[in-house]
Amino acid sequence: MKQVFIKDGKTSEVKKIEVNEEELDNYTTILELLLKIREEREPSLVLRYSCRMALCGSCGMIINGRPRLACLTKVKDLGDKIMIEPLRNLPSIRGLVPDLKPFFAKYRSVTPFLVADDEQESPTAPYSQTDEQVKRYLQFNYCIQCGLCYSACPIVATNPKFPGPAAINVAYRYAADSRDRNKQRILKLDTPDGVWSCRIAGSCSMVCPKGVDPSLSIQLVKSSLLKR
Ligand code: FES
Repeated sequence: MKQVFIKDGKTSEVKKIEVNEEELDNYTTILELLLKIREEREPSLVLRYSCRMALCGSCGMIINGRPRLACLTKVKDLGDKIMIEPLRNLPSIRGLVPDLKPFFAKYRSVTPFLVADDEQESPTAPYSQTDEQVKRYLQFNYCIQCGLCYSACPIVATNPKFPGPAAINVAYRYAADSRDRNKQRILKLDTPDGVWSCRIAGSCSMVCPKGVDPSLSIQLVKSSLLKR
């Protein structure tokens, strides 16, 4: 028998649900378990999800104390007691659904897209790059904006002005791209509440479901600023 505890982010109420292990198999994910609970026992359970395959980044939640994607977490890998809560460091909308507006506001603030090169011969011509140029930013490009790193970050928890790992990571991703011409993106992070707030706890990199290392990209931004 598994005991599942589900915390409502708005009311802080915790519901305990007992699940017979015969209802599960080796591949049952937390997302599937929650959908089953909602269908059969708790119709008021509120959660966010879409792709069910770790692509859309919408099913982030705290599972047994750690930010994880519900669709990527297997029930069998957890103990007999499973605690499920909404992501931390974000306001709650309802149930397990956090309000991601603060996260995306910070993400947008670093201009998270390529700024075109005015000197390019034709606006429709392809921007070609060498393999070396691609390697400089490729691993930082896999972020799916799930907010797990933001939820895990102890600096975000204590300093609301800190942009957070995902925003700084995407800033580095574009700054390291040979096609980009935005010089301000990195300079805007050169403040005590910006990139220098990071104390290299590394929690962001530990919880990233896509293997991105935001802790590294933050240090690379610091390094670029020092070189300037
Ligand atoms: S449902 Fe899309 S990442 Fe989990």
